[in-house]
Amino acid sequence: MSKLFVIFGATGQQGGALVNYILDHPEFSKTFRLRAITRNASSTAAAKLKQKSVEIVEANLDDPETLHAAVAGAYAVFSVTNYWEKARASVEIAQGKALADAAVAAGVTLFIWSSLPNVKKITNGKLTEVHHFDSKAEVEEYIRGLSFPSSVFFLPGWFMQNVWNDLAPKPKKISDQKVLFPFAFTPETRIPLIDISDIGKYLAPALRDPLKYNGCQLTASTAFYTAQEQVETWSEVSGKQVVLPSISEIPLLTDDPIKQKVSQAPTMLSEWSYYGPTGQKDLEWTLEQVDEKLTTWREFLEANGPWFEDDN
Ligand SMILES: NC(=O)c1ccc[n+]([C@@H]2O[C@H](COP(=O)([O-])OP(=O)(O)OC[C@H]3O[C@@H](n4cnc5c(N)ncnc54)[C@H](OP(=O)(O)O)[C@@H]3O)[C@@H](O)[C@H]2O)c1
Repeated sequence: MSKLFVIFGATGQQGGALVNYILDHPEFSKTFRLRAITRNASSTAAAKLKQKSVEIVEANLDDPETLHAAVAGAYAVFSVTNYWEKARASVEIAQGKALADAAVAAGVTLFIWSSLPNVKKITNGKLTEVHHFDSKAEVEEYIRGLSFPSSVFFLPGWFMQNVWNDLAPKPKKISDQKVLFPFAFTPETRIPLIDISDIGKYLAPALRDPLKYNGCQLTASTAFYTAQEQVETWSEVSGKQVVLPSISEIPLLTDDPIKQKVSQAPTMLSEWSYYGPTGQKDLEWTLEQVDEKLTTWREFLEANGPWFEDDN
């Protein structure tokens, strides 16, 4: 009989991509049956999941009472929180801990938490405002203290898909031939990139052998790419000249209050690196575990063009 895999965030990027990966996978589509959690079972996104024969259960991470039914009978849980919805660390921490508590009480074998590094620790207390990282790391510490047979930590890099979503800066057309990518990073800053639709490829080893990966962090990225490499590849693929802003232009691009909240993130990336001092080694370890081809930045761009045709 198949095992129940409960997926939070199934109507969003990470959970949605994981649902598709499992459904399309010759082995996992038989090993697991899926339950998708959403706050609104009547949404278009939930209806699409239902059409794929995924069970839909309503629950709200802000309402711990609803989480027991959500995880009841689960063998595995994928848990993710959306920091940006309320942009408050205390909310994300409470959500993550409530879900972990419900899962441990339900006897879940494999608990996967979508985590991020602890920036306060990595920077020896120098950066204290990268809340959307630190709050996830705090939940990770909490989960490590619970008695799951296996807890696994998925640490995604910068999503390639950020070129479309609202938090990241949008490319701006300067002329017919030139596009500014208002990325507040110096050209040499190294950023780990993930095509989030690859999520299942990183998790597959732990799904096959949860106990082997108990306590492991999967630093999930295809590779580190410098900001300069990113715009050069984008130029080659798009046929336009994609350029980074000069340092003097960067402050003009950070007037958005939400982006100001993450204004320490570029400093962290350029001085300390996204995954901290052991990031390169950790990424190499993660890539050794993965046995499927990961999407490169170039492949992502080639698959999703044409670029900049309608921008203004
Ligand atoms: N973008 C990046 O580069 C990047 C990199 C690393 C980490 N992250 C982290 O990724 C997280 C967001 O993940 P995502 O992009 O996959 O999400 P997303 O596409 O924005 O979707 C959010 C998902 O969370 C669910 N959700 C939100 N609040 C909920 C609640 N109270 N109860 C139950 N479900 C709730 C939503 O479900 P319903 O609306 O259907 O209820 C939806 O499925 C953020 O915390 C961010 O910090 C992002």
